Amino acid sequence: MPSDAMRRAMAEAEVGDDWYGDDPTVNRLQERAAQVTGKEAALFVPTGTMANQIGLRLHFRGTGHSVVAGSSAHIASTEVMTSAALSGISFRTIAGDARGRITGEQVRTALEPDEAYDVEVVDLVAVENTNGHAGGTVMAVEDLRAIRKAADEAAVPIHLDGARIFNAAAAAGLDVTEWTREADTLMFCVSKGLGAPVGSLVCGPAELMREARRIKILFGGAWRQAGIVAAAGLIALEEGPARLHEDHARARRLAEGLAELTPGTLDPGAVETNMVYVDTEAMGMRALDAIERLAALGVGTTLVSGKVRLVTHVDVDDEGVGFALDAWRSVAAEATKEA
Ligand SMILES: Cc1ncc(COP(=O)(O)O)c(C=O)c1O
Repeated sequence: MPSDAMRRAMAEAEVGDDWYGDDPTVNRLQERAAQVTGKEAALFVPTGTMANQIGLRLHFRGTGHSVVAGSSAHIASTEVMTSAALSGISFRTIAGDARGRITGEQVRTALEPDEAYDVEVVDLVAVENTNGHAGGTVMAVEDLRAIRKAADEAAVPIHLDGARIFNAAAAAGLDVTEWTREADTLMFCVSKGLGAPVGSLVCGPAELMREARRIKILFGGAWRQAGIVAAAGLIALEEGPARLHEDHARARRLAEGLAELTPGTLDPGAVETNMVYVDTEAMGMRALDAIERLAALGVGTTLVSGKVRLVTHVDVDDEGVGFALDAWRSVAAEATKEA
C-alpha cells in the first residue's frame, strides 16, 4: 500500500499531459530511472506487462519474430499470449535449472538456426532478474555476461525483465548497473517490492526510447496526468531499494519457520529474496486448498508453478511473519487431522 508520504506526494503532484511528454513529475521519474539504471532514457508506463511488451516490440519491425527466453520467465509464460497478440512473437524457450538459471551455452545453441532456410530467425534474447517463478532467485552477473557474449556473437539484442532488479541488487550487494549494462533494454517496476501503487519503467538508449514512446501510445498507454502516480514512483525509487534487505530477512525467517512446522515442504536455503514457495502436496494438501484456508485466516498467498507463494513486502513486519506462521500452523494441523 502507498505510504503516507506517497499519498501526500500524489495529492500535491505537479502534473501535465503525458501524451505530449509535458508532465513534469513523470519526466522527473523518467530521468531518475535512466540515471539509476545507467541508460540514456526511460519511459514511465502503467504496468510491468506493458513495459515488457514495449521492450520486446522495440527490437522488431513487422510480425513473425522469435525470442529466446528461459521457460519460467514471465515474458515466456504469463505474457506468452500477450506477446503473440500484440507483436506476433513466438518463443524458443530454454529449460533452466531449479533456480531458473539459463547459461550462455544454452543461449548460443538456441540462437543457432536449425537449418539453412530456417524461417524461425531469433531476433531477441529475454532474461529475467530476479526470476519470480523460479523462487525470486538472483541471476549471477557472470551468467548474464556469458549470455551477452552469446547474443553478441549472433548480433542479437537483450531485453532484461528487471521487474525485481532492485531485489537482486539488494540480495547480491551489487548496484543494478552490474546487470543493466549487459542489456540493450530493460524494465523495472516501482510497484512490487519498491512499494509504489502503480507503474513500471522501460529504459534504454535515447533513440530506442523515442520509438518506445510511440509504441506506448500505440498500445493505449498514453496516460495523461500520470504525474499523480509518478509522484509515488519517485519516492519508491529513492527510498524503496534501501529497505529491501528487510523483506529478504523476513522471507528467510518465514521460510525457516514454515520448514520447522511442515518439514519437507520447502528448502529455506533456496530463499534468496522476498519470495517463499511451499509444496503443500508434501504435507498432503492441495495448493489451492491451502491458499483458500490461509485466506480465511487473513493471509494472502498465490498459486505459482503449482506451489503456494508467500511474498514479504513493505506492509509485512515481524508481527506479520508471526501471524502468517500461526495461520500456517492451523492449516498444517488441519492437514494432519485429515490425513
Ligand atoms: C518478472 C515479472 N515481470 C513482469 C511482470 C508484470 O508486471 P505487472 O503485473 O505490473 O504487469 C511481473 C508480474 O508479477 C513479473 O513477476
